[in-house]
Amino acid sequence: MDIRFEKREHLQEKPDQKNLGFGKHFTDYMFVMDWDKEQGWHDAAIVPYGGIPMDPATMVLHYAQETFEGMKAYRTAEGKIQLFRPEMNARRMIKSNERLCMPGVPEEMFVEAVKALVKAQEDWVPSEPGTSLYIRPFMFATEASLGVHMAKSYKFVIITTPVGAYYAEGINPVKILVEDEYVRAVKGGTGFTKCGGNYASSIAGQVKAEKMGCTQVLWLDGVHRKYVEEVGTMNIMFKIAGEIYTAPLEGTVLPGVTRDSLIHILRDWGYKVNETHLSIDDLMKAGHDGTLEEAFGTGTAAVVSPVGEFVYKDDSVIVNDFKIGELTQKLYDTLTGIQWGKLEDKYGWTTPV
Ligand code: COI
Repeated sequence: MDIRFEKREHLQEKPDQKNLGFGKHFTDYMFVMDWDKEQGWHDAAIVPYGGIPMDPATMVLHYAQETFEGMKAYRTAEGKIQLFRPEMNARRMIKSNERLCMPGVPEEMFVEAVKALVKAQEDWVPSEPGTSLYIRPFMFATEASLGVHMAKSYKFVIITTPVGAYYAEGINPVKILVEDEYVRAVKGGTGFTKCGGNYASSIAGQVKAEKMGCTQVLWLDGVHRKYVEEVGTMNIMFKIAGEIYTAPLEGTVLPGVTRDSLIHILRDWGYKVNETHLSIDDLMKAGHDGTLEEAFGTGTAAVVSPVGEFVYKDDSVIVNDFKIGELTQKLYDTLTGIQWGKLEDKYGWTTPV
């Protein structure tokens, strides 16, 4: 793929690596590429980070035809830069786009674009412990028209942002509200895709959770309002009586790259991982009878994030005395050890930039 490089006149000052937060500082450049029926993907370019002019009738602003991805570039102790399973993000975006009737970016093109952008601004990949360069590819309908149909044109963009921990709590446990009023997804819907609409409809639950002093929402299945599915920004796993439980991928749950990686690692360590429907009643019961040993969220942004408490209706359970569990810590250390190049990558998951 030919990528035009448009240099900017002045580079920005870099933020303090010790105080990055999440998604607050954006780097000097972004990748852009357009699609239309006649030309397919064309005009790939790395250009100065900045606004994207839009007609007020641009379809994405009205009908939300948008998908996105989340991935990271890591700096190793030797100063090299690597990506973690970028092909999984490329493939997931293709699946999201199929569901939303949007064109797919071929896997090789996607990975090449990500690498080219990261390479062009490698100085932005932070090196402080716990930091990385978060990469946000996204695509949206650009046609200006108010008819509800597949658009005639789309734009694919990648922006990057140096980040620390997603949650203010860092690796400390978070408190989670089990949502019993709103639902996130149903089979046949878009739950398995990474589309902006899924996150837009989740905000009402998030607002409610925050009012109750919780950091996130745990979604139950949309039909029975009974089975545990996923958290607002991450998949979720439980260790109950020595075995691991997580929701199955049946169309309502996001197929997380971190979820998949941790399942591999856990099975490798000999754990029984049950990808199955776990009811909220069974979860709360396990919390009360002491068999719920650990609970943790998994995601690119959230990495491995311990849960210290679940609040459900009038009930609540504390997990592991609101402390990070031994297995959660070991998973965090192993996964990030591979990502930051501190541990041998025996699964072949990292790719140099
Ligand atoms: C990610 O983990 O990369 C995500 O996309 C979550 C995001 C909505 C913060």
